Amino acid sequence: MKKTSFLALTLLTSLALGSASAQTVIKIASMSPLTGSSSDLGLQIRNATELAIKEQKAAFAKAGFDLQFVAYDDQADPTTGTANARRIAADTSILAMVGTLNSGVVIPSSEVLAPAHVAIVSPANTNPKVTDRGLANMNRICARDDSQGPAGADFLTDTIKAKKVYVLNDKTPYGQGLADAAEARMKSKGVTIAFSEGSDEKSDFSSIITKIKSSGADAIYFGGLYGQVGPFSKQLREAGLSIPVMGGDGYDSPDLLSLAGTGAKDIYFTTVAPPIAAVPGARLIASRYKAAYKKDLAGFGIMGYDSAKVVLAGVMDAIKQSGGKLPPRTAVEAAVRKTNIDKGTLTGAIAFNSAGDRTSAKMFIIQVKPVSGKLDFTTAGTVIVKVAKQ
Ligand code: ALA
Repeated sequence: MKKTSFLALTLLTSLALGSASAQTVIKIASMSPLTGSSSDLGLQIRNATELAIKEQKAAFAKAGFDLQFVAYDDQADPTTGTANARRIAADTSILAMVGTLNSGVVIPSSEVLAPAHVAIVSPANTNPKVTDRGLANMNRICARDDSQGPAGADFLTDTIKAKKVYVLNDKTPYGQGLADAAEARMKSKGVTIAFSEGSDEKSDFSSIITKIKSSGADAIYFGGLYGQVGPFSKQLREAGLSIPVMGGDGYDSPDLLSLAGTGAKDIYFTTVAPPIAAVPGARLIASRYKAAYKKDLAGFGIMGYDSAKVVLAGVMDAIKQSGGKLPPRTAVEAAVRKTNIDKGTLTGAIAFNSAGDRTSAKMFIIQVKPVSGKLDFTTAGTVIVKVAKQ
């Protein structure tokens, strides 16, 4: 008798301990380049996602779930991205993903994640194809390159008054799509396109610079990322060319300034991530970010944080709809698409149209110029892009 009650007690105790310590795990993934030439932006996305997840661990624990974060490094490479996507699809505890940085990575990766119904919220992918393919799992909180390209072209023609532009792209879906959109707009405004070409060169730009020089162009539009445009601009200025260089959100890293050095002067870019000064509500998050990662929060961190907020709200909604139980991925996918948040985000209200595009997205125009004796980013304009909610 004594033995039986001891056994029963042991069993009860282990059950009680078991239920307290083994909450159902829900994982949220991030995917972005954590290594390589665009890792400064990729780390912003990763770290800010982790920060948003940590903030909500307690709320999920209260709902009976152990919320975990898992970060994938795609190295800005489509093959690595799709291999990661297969791993994410196979780990059924992952209910959603924040990412990526590069359109060229998210396009094939989202196709791997679509049949597994893993919801994606992108902080940074601007190529139109990202959402135009009609995938139910793919959403973004940033503007698109069919707005960004024309906005850059308008700035080059209307404000900088460029008449003959040399167009370059980095041969990725992002850089090429953006440069094409800018070029089409410039042509429609009567600008002469001196030449238009793609190059994935990362270190020696001498032959391109020789061609630019002899073309007589008075400005350059370069669709690419800061890791390539920084050294290009440095060499351009060293070769004696001081003409403006314009591009898109791929320039939006402080590393552009260190890579280009004094060659950063007169670089302009449109970006889909807000400058930190334009987000008064970011101060607290910025100090938490600095304490955790010893770096300053920047625009794509803000976008990563808000993307994670959208994902977490979608998962929580799906839990409620599932009566407090672990929701299926399909419920999370549907809840994310139905997002309607106007509080708690850094970049304002977030809702998606039926394609997964944000119904109202902001773009900023940035100029690199001397500020207190040092070259820095300054805001030269803001554009709001509205997409009809269908
Ligand atoms: N907006 C850039 C892309 O989509 C970074 O690749």
